[in-house]
Amino acid sequence: MKSLTERDGLLLKNWYIAALSREVGKKPIQRTLYDTALVLFRNNDGKVSCLNDRCLHRHAFLSKGEVFKGELVCPYHGWLYDHTGQVSCVPSEGPESKPSQNLKLKSFPCVEQDGVIWVWMGPSDNNTDVPCPATPPWRFPEALNPDWISYFMITDFENEVTNLAENFVDVPHTIFVHRGWFRDEKAVPKKVPTVVETKNGAVTVTYFQEEDEFSWGAKMLLNPGGHPMTHTDQFIMPNLTRVDYNFGSKNGFIINSQISPVSTLKSRVYTYIAYKIPLFGMLFKPIISFYTRKVIEQDTVIMKNQGDCLRSDFRTTFRSTEADEVHKEIERLRHYGVKGDSKLMSYEGKKEISFWI
Ligand code: FES
Ligand SMILES: [Fe+2]
Repeated sequence: MKSLTERDGLLLKNWYIAALSREVGKKPIQRTLYDTALVLFRNNDGKVSCLNDRCLHRHAFLSKGEVFKGELVCPYHGWLYDHTGQVSCVPSEGPESKPSQNLKLKSFPCVEQDGVIWVWMGPSDNNTDVPCPATPPWRFPEALNPDWISYFMITDFENEVTNLAENFVDVPHTIFVHRGWFRDEKAVPKKVPTVVETKNGAVTVTYFQEEDEFSWGAKMLLNPGGHPMTHTDQFIMPNLTRVDYNFGSKNGFIINSQISPVSTLKSRVYTYIAYKIPLFGMLFKPIISFYTRKVIEQDTVIMKNQGDCLRSDFRTTFRSTEADEVHKEIERLRHYGVKGDSKLMSYEGKKEISFWI
């Protein structure tokens, strides 16, 4: 079977989140993206570096070493690497001497923005057909707006980006996987008219359902006034889902899920939650954190179930109904992305559908 890196083709050449800013402190840490072990650390100026986590000498993990005066020390024989990956000292050649060979570890462009560390995994030289943009395009919505409260959660899933993105914007599963937690258990089944629109490498789903079907607890937190609800879901290439609920003009709830590909059937998801509740919004953070953690854990179980099933037979011949229109569009865009097909940005489609929840 091909590795994830081989199967994902040109999708590799994108910005992916490797860690949250708060995770990179005084000690080096290891993270994996596309089967590649990376070591992240901060230099003397506090700037984050990302290098291949494999010492050039005898291949020890550098992330098990330490940072000394802003440089990375290998725990085995003490070779020192500067923030660019250049070997700056080989202790066995004399503690003060310059290394006799010019040795440089592969480094990866990284950018710290909105509290996360983004890494560019594709080649950064001029020969690549997908040059590394200066900064990641995605900015987390309302992160700087004092009326909104936001936080990140990190969750490991035993499944891959396409299936996870589909799960994160899938409505019909909520009455089964999140029974009683998300949707009201006693709600009478309703038909939901929906528009699925694809353009500019993104799929937007608009649900025409004025009344929410949240469980009692969720309703008390997010929409105590029972205001009309607007609900849109988005998938944005290569790996982001965005879910927006607005209740009247005062209350809102946003979920951004950035899915980082780790290896075959393994991903790490950075979930950004932002909410607006007038008055004392901060007081609700422990409850909302507990609630969102519980809902995500329920998704990890069903995503592991699907991942285990796919591991036993990787061929996908998914059968779809009208409710799966968004899923088919996600698969279409991801497929274009793998091949580097120009249709990724030029393809446009719009469908009016309906399904029951
Ligand atoms: S393995 Fe790193 S210095 Fe020898
Ligand atoms: Fe879910």
